[in-house]
Amino acid sequence: MKLVKSKIEVRAEIARLKSAGARVGLVPTMGYFHEGHLSLMRISRRQADYTVVSLFVNPIQFAPGEDLEGYPRDPERDLDLARKEGVDLLFAPDKKEVYAPNASTFIEETSVSKGLCGQSRPDHFRGVTTVLTKLFNIVTPDLAVFGRKDIQQLMVIRRMVRDLDFPVEIVAGPTVREPDGLALSSRNLYLSKEERRRAPDLYRGLQAAARALAEPGAELAGVLESARREIERNTGGQVEYISAVDNDMAEVKQASDCSYLAAALQLGSTRLIDNVDVNTGDLSN
Ligand code: PAF
Repeated sequence: MKLVKSKIEVRAEIARLKSAGARVGLVPTMGYFHEGHLSLMRISRRQADYTVVSLFVNPIQFAPGEDLEGYPRDPERDLDLARKEGVDLLFAPDKKEVYAPNASTFIEETSVSKGLCGQSRPDHFRGVTTVLTKLFNIVTPDLAVFGRKDIQQLMVIRRMVRDLDFPVEIVAGPTVREPDGLALSSRNLYLSKEERRRAPDLYRGLQAAARALAEPGAELAGVLESARREIERNTGGQVEYISAVDNDMAEVKQASDCSYLAAALQLGSTRLIDNVDVNTGDLSN
């Protein structure tokens, strides 16, 4: 596996591969790999000839006061795990390599990104779409793989790629969970022992709400309200939102229009998000 820190080197390597007809897959990450990241790397390895993983904790998707400084990092371990997964190139630029000191251009999706997490993190998705635009321009992947756990991020990226004609296929990987149902996330590391024990009740609450919605005559607002109460009671946390949304992440009023139930939970100092796909019935998503 090649470890590359400069854009020029990545471009040269990809140009060489593409002239030989290789299909390139990209897995964008912020590092501190867990099984969720590794599963996305495997998807890319199956669908592409050459897999690039980017490792960059993107400062512009964090608001002041969020966890940019404390975001978990372990580059040596990441290197080792990516190598073991058969990744071909790990692109790990530093901040200077990605952003000019006076960078003043941003990419903003103005609809899908506005609800759910966009309410409390107004500049977050602008940071995500800007860094992905840059990564897509540097790596020029044929496909890029993202997890369904961050369902709003996935849908924002799909919208951006469609609207701006990026020649990249967006591939979605399933949410990977702990045996007790907690969705894997680098931020799970922040949970205290007691919070970790209670955290799976976010997913359980979403599953119960999805089942309740499938009942004939289910009343959406009531189902969401009782799910909110149950999740707060069982986790001891505070539900930031629990919403029924369509594929464009717009809130729906009727159970029959709902594609996903999505929620964010503040548990101590940790903010957890999760969702279930109510249409496929695949509650593990
Ligand atoms: O999901 C993430 O880890 C990040 O938002 C991403 C897509 C790598 C952009 O920084």
